Amino acid sequence: MILSIESSCDDSAIAITQIETKKLIFHRKLSQEKEHAHYGGVVPELASRLHTIALPEILHHAKDYLPSLKAIAVTNQPGLGVALLEGIAMAKTIAFLQKIPLIAVHHLKAHIYSLFIETKTHFPLLVLLISGGHTQILEVQDFDHMKILATTMDDSVGESFDKCAKMMGLGYPGGPIIETLAKEGDAHRFSLPIPLINSPVVAFSLSGLKNAVRLQIEALGGKENMSRQDRCDLAATFQHTLIAHLIHKSKKIFEHNKIVDFAIVGGAGANIAIRDAFGQLCNKYRKNLHTAPLAYCSDNAAMVGRYALDAYRLKRFTPLVDIAPLTTKKLTQGNLL
Ligand code: KG4
Ligand code: ZN
Repeated sequence: MILSIESSCDDSAIAITQIETKKLIFHRKLSQEKEHAHYGGVVPELASRLHTIALPEILHHAKDYLPSLKAIAVTNQPGLGVALLEGIAMAKTIAFLQKIPLIAVHHLKAHIYSLFIETKTHFPLLVLLISGGHTQILEVQDFDHMKILATTMDDSVGESFDKCAKMMGLGYPGGPIIETLAKEGDAHRFSLPIPLINSPVVAFSLSGLKNAVRLQIEALGGKENMSRQDRCDLAATFQHTLIAHLIHKSKKIFEHNKIVDFAIVGGAGANIAIRDAFGQLCNKYRKNLHTAPLAYCSDNAAMVGRYALDAYRLKRFTPLVDIAPLTTKKLTQGNLL
């Protein structure tokens, strides 16, 4: 069995995955959303302190599996340094005491492997990765070859949901709140500009849209003066415009890329309106749409464990002394993850 640990942001999670059957046999996650909601975003120092408490609490429930472990997997990049450190310290300690190898896991690769928690690995894939920290389209050939085809020039999709929700005084995380309000809203009441609509670049940009939302809130007299219907209409218009942008830029890739399997992963990949819009785009371009199970879109340790199964098979182990937290380095078009 492999024990996997995820602590890159505000979720503390541990999973146990069986090597032979690839089955997930234990998974527990303690989310810190409530604690960070007060600040309208994740406070790294607070996240770190909460991981220190939550990780041993979860490990306690998995203690019966410890004697059967063959390896430990832990997210070591990218993420908040002080948050990653908690998972890494725990992973190193267990690996050292049990004399078993350590697998360092790239968080974005783990999100891609969330697709295979309940199914077999299948490549090649085009992947839209939309999370709180990242927004990318990747061409994934196999375990080692994951190339960025397009990335955001500024904010990520999840971040833009969070920031718009914060500006409207709606709480954190903003994605699910905005998605719910949008269902009751008129997506055409306001006029927000679709980012980069006249630009040929194949990239995403969301900070201009965020600014347009801010100006609209001001025009309505500030968040204090917005009615519930104003909030629903603005949430719907924002989500609609963001989706139009994602579709417009993805289309440019679909027009040339021959890969027929397309997947959506990451926290914002739970958004049903985004899934539906890409479902229609995939139909048009005769691609098959794959999505991660809803429970494994946001950060979790099951996806870290699923990635680790393939790493274990390929013997991709890392010496204890070589693992340290790596915070986000700039990932640009053409880079391999
Ligand atoms: O993948 P994730 O858990 O963490 C990172 O790796 O960043 O993604 C968290 C992000 C948050 O920004 C949250 O607002 C967003 O995913 N999110 C959503 C939805 N559920 C979560 N965004 C849009 N619609 C949703 N339903
Ligand atoms: Zn994530």
